[in-house]
Amino acid sequence: MISALADYARLARAGWTLARHDALIPREFAHLTPAPVRLAGAVSRIGAVGRAKRPGERLALAFEKLGPAYVKLGQFMATRPDIVGFELADDLGRLQDKMPPFSEAAARREIEKAFGKPVEALFETFSAPIAAASIAQAHKATLKDGSRVAVKILRPQIEAKAGREFRAFARAAAVVEAVSKAARRMEPVKFVETLKASAAIELDLRLEAGAASELAENLKSESQVRVPGVVWPLTAKRVLTVEWISGTPLGDLAALDRRGVDRRALAKLVIRNFLTQALHDGFFHADMHQGNMIVDDDGRLGLIDFGIMGRLDEQARRTFAEIIYGFIARDYRRTAEVHFEAGYVPPGHSMEAFAQALRAVGEPLQGRNAHEVDMSRVLQQLFDVTALFDMHLRPELVLLQRTMVTVEGVARVLDPGIDMWDAATPVVKDYVTRSIGLEAQGEKLRAATRKAAEIAPRLPHYVEAIGKAAERYMENGAAAEPARSGDRGALAAALWFAGASGLALAAALALR
Ligand SMILES: Nc1ncnc2c1ncn2[C@@H]1O[C@H](COP(=O)(O)OP(=O)(O)O)[C@@H](O)[C@H]1O
Ligand SMILES: [Mg+2]
Repeated sequence: MISALADYARLARAGWTLARHDALIPREFAHLTPAPVRLAGAVSRIGAVGRAKRPGERLALAFEKLGPAYVKLGQFMATRPDIVGFELADDLGRLQDKMPPFSEAAARREIEKAFGKPVEALFETFSAPIAAASIAQAHKATLKDGSRVAVKILRPQIEAKAGREFRAFARAAAVVEAVSKAARRMEPVKFVETLKASAAIELDLRLEAGAASELAENLKSESQVRVPGVVWPLTAKRVLTVEWISGTPLGDLAALDRRGVDRRALAKLVIRNFLTQALHDGFFHADMHQGNMIVDDDGRLGLIDFGIMGRLDEQARRTFAEIIYGFIARDYRRTAEVHFEAGYVPPGHSMEAFAQALRAVGEPLQGRNAHEVDMSRVLQQLFDVTALFDMHLRPELVLLQRTMVTVEGVARVLDPGIDMWDAATPVVKDYVTRSIGLEAQGEKLRAATRKAAEIAPRLPHYVEAIGKAAERYMENGAAAEPARSGDRGALAAALWFAGASGLALAAALALR
């Protein structure tokens, strides 16, 4: 009871902040809501502080204001354009994760708690905070042997604070699921559970250390790329210590130029290395913005910050490569087949029509006038196709897509004339010849292995689909419609609505 009240109070506070940013019942969505909500929205907009144009931008500002759990919610929503829509996801993807630092004294206490020794006993020098985000902050330090390190420390009490907010999210999701049939199809409860699980990974820095170590091992033969080594004895759940990378941040173009760094070569390296991670190893850095890359003193590309990583299994990698390969070879029919075989397009759609849609994406790219090709726009068009064909988007592929857009942006800033296909082709070709090149040994063998490999991971999906179909049948009778992309707006509206009704519900439930 008390905790329910606390949850609703929290939601009400969030509702208030959202309203102040005109992100609660945004004017763009108001017409979708019932009259009383519309009225509340109009009232809430009086004196709203949000001046940003798009609802996604206003929502991002409100989330930044609301703190870590909401920043994570925003970042997570950004990875699900299939649920929240492309534009909103894109705006949320630009969410700034910067916060005032906590004190150096508190940081020292955290280290002492984690290792049972004072900072002086563990480090030779230890700096004031150099960067602070919603979950952790970073310090510069030197070890007793003189080597320089970066020390990342979780915010004090962040687990408990985030936990309380997530509990409130879970309650809101349960309410939404109970009251709105349309929103239920989008599975808000499951959405919050997945959000919690992904945040839990970021709340344990040992896992980030594991990611750094795995990536370093994968990339050890890449002489131009550097991943900082983990200092394991000084790493714990709340503290991560890694080698310091001294050099020039990728965002500082003037400094790169002063050093005489070949920006065109660097841009290519960024793209190729990302594709190598994704295709070759199936384990990729999923937060490749310029703030997480440094050109070290030897001119190598240094990667830092391994809080968000993506994984692609063999099947996803192969599908990804075959899709790119199909586009390069202009074999749209084959690309369409791959999508159908992998179960990405639900049965009932025409493979020919799908191939036709893909052709419309691919042919404009074939002029080889590649300077003009805007990869993110191509991917956007691909997403439009996915909506048109009710495609089931696998979260890891969405994460891959989003990271590719980020990587493209970074490369383009370094070299505005970059040719994305040219940069990507060697890595894709290499993967295709090694893996899909099995073809040379007989199409049959290839088909057989692929079938076996693909059916297995799809089984749970089938079972889930059958279960859902049955559920729909029970609810609506035989004429049930499958969930369509139009429901997205409904979820967005429901999410905002949940915040708005937080106060009213708090009162109603408390009196019950
Ligand atoms: N190994 C490192 N070498 C040099 N600078 C680092 C290193 N690790 C972190 N930093 C600095 O600290 C900042 C924050 O660290 P980061 O791991 O990116 O944390 P966050 O998850 O908060 O972005 C970085 O942007 C960079 O300036
Ligand atoms: Mg970072």
